[in-house]
This record gives sequence, structure tokens and C-alpha cells, in this order.
Amino acid sequence: MVSGLTYAEGLTAERLAELRARILQLKGEMRAVIVAHNYQRPEVQDIADFVGDSLELARRCAQERDKEVIVFCGVHFMAETAAILNPQRTVLLAEATAGCPMADMIDVQDLREWKARYPQAATVCYVNTTAAVKAECDLCCTSANAVRVVESVPNDEILFVPDANLGHYISTKTKKKMILYPGFCITHRRLKVEHLQRARELHPGAPLVVHPECTPEVVAQADAVLSTSQMVRYVKENPSKVFLIGTEAGLVYRMQKENPGKTFYVVSTALFCPNMKRTTLERVLRTMEGRLNVVRVPEDIRLKALKAVERMLAIA
Ligand code: 13P
Ligand code: SF4
Repeated sequence: MVSGLTYAEGLTAERLAELRARILQLKGEMRAVIVAHNYQRPEVQDIADFVGDSLELARRCAQERDKEVIVFCGVHFMAETAAILNPQRTVLLAEATAGCPMADMIDVQDLREWKARYPQAATVCYVNTTAAVKAECDLCCTSANAVRVVESVPNDEILFVPDANLGHYISTKTKKKMILYPGFCITHRRLKVEHLQRARELHPGAPLVVHPECTPEVVAQADAVLSTSQMVRYVKENPSKVFLIGTEAGLVYRMQKENPGKTFYVVSTALFCPNMKRTTLERVLRTMEGRLNVVRVPEDIRLKALKAVERMLAIA
């Protein structure tokens, strides 16, 4: 069991200070906003103007009217969502190779085949998809609003792509028939019931919160099933002093920082997303200096994907 990541691993205090100063200076010169997902490295979260879950990041990027550049510290589909919502701004993905294996489990061809099999179903995609896949879906959702999005659709049947685990979780909260595409998160799938049992033995009485990308067996054991930012709020409001966290380890940095009197245990060392950890401060600086990794979505795809994303954002 682990409880967080090393701060600024591999950097001396001088280099850390130098990187931070240079990034902040460039941010002003470029009229940039830096946003980071909750799973990012601690020192990357600390230079961001905003840290959040997928839904909050999409909302925040939709509001960025007075900035010219969005520097996105996260994975590719998240930066693409920012580009879908911000055609007037330049979106830079801080680390070009940071992708999401789950998003790559479905392409447009796969989706069209599944849609042809279930013509009566509305198609809802998890935000962890490419813009091209979003463009072919009726609605988009994140882990924070998935049940509400599905409930908002008039159809009785929903084709849900690509996360079968999130789709299964939704199926336990709705009467609609959920047709599940067999995608999954390689990181959350590594969390096993045995890990939870061990954690419960070590910390009896501590609430266990897990992400809905975990398997149904794991989800069934949890006290709460929440998006990453919902977890942050849950641990703040819950009076317990110790929590068991069933999601990617990076989230614990924010929890610990915001709740110094509480202790958080990530329930398995397997909960590490290598893609989320590819972004380093060195990378952020290099990307900003060179205006590298511009995320572009062809306009015809962007307009179609925008409909699916805007329908989601319109749901309160
Ligand atoms: P959240 O929207 O809950 O932050 O999750 C995003 C993600 O990729 C989880 O693996
Ligand atoms: Fe994708 Fe899973 Fe990493 Fe989230 S944790 S970015 S779903 S691989």
C-alpha cells in the first residue's frame, strides 16, 4: 500500500525553482492558462491554474475567453476536448506521447459496426474517446455525470462506449438497457478484491472510495463510487481521519494537501497510470518554449463532437 508520490522526483531544489519561475514567466508572456488533471505529478499540479476531473477541466476550458493558449497537463483526449471547446485558442498538450489506452480501444470503424447492430439505441461515449468517436455519438459523459447523462436520453436502450466497467456501474443505477462495448482502463482493472480486503484489514473502519472504471467486483465492495474530484470533496466532508483510495495514486497528493490532518492510503501499488505521469515540469517548459504539440481537430469533426460535448455540459 502506498500513500502518494515523491515530490519533484529527480529534480534538485534549484532546478525546481528555476523551472517554476520560467514556466510562470512564459505563462504571462504567452497569455496562457495551465490546467492539470488530478492524476498529474504533484509539482505539475502545483504550477497549474486549475486542477480537476475530466468534467471540471472541460467546463473550465469552455470558460477560457481571455487566454490565447491552453497548456494541458493530462492525456490526449482531454486536450482534444479543450480544442473542441476552444477553436479560437491554441491548445498545447504538455507531453505529446501522453495517451489513454482505453480511448484507443475504439475507433470510428468499430463504433459504426456497433451502431449498425443496435440502431434503436442512443450512443453515449465516455469522454475518454477520440474527437472522431465523439463526433459519431449522441452524447458524451464523464465519470462525474454518467448516470445523469444516460437518464437524460429519451431512448430506452443505450450503446455505451468504450468503458464496460463504467457502463456496468451505470446499469446498476438506471432502468435503461445498457449495451456495453468491451473497453477498459488498464490501470483501474489491476485493482483486485484481495487488495481491498488487505487494506480493510490494515485500516478497519476507514471509508473505501473507488473510481467507476474499476471492475464490478471492486465497485461492489466500495463505500462510495466517485469521479476524482467527487472523491476530493467526499474526503473533505467525511469526518473520518483515514481513507482508502481506489484510484490512480496521483490524486492522493491533492487530498493530502487539502486535508493535512487526514491520512490517505492508495489501496494498491498497481494504481499508477504511466501516461498521466509522462508530463514533467521539464516537458511543460519545453512545450511552452517551442509552442509544441498543438492539438488540432478538423473542423467538420470538431463541430459534430462539439454537439455531443455541449449536450453533456448543458446537463446541470
Ligand atoms: P475523472 O473524470 O474522474 O477525473 O477520471 C478521468 C480518468 O481518466 C480516470 O481514469
Ligand atoms: Fe486512461 Fe486509465 Fe490512465 Fe485514466 S487512468 S488516463 S482511463 S489509462
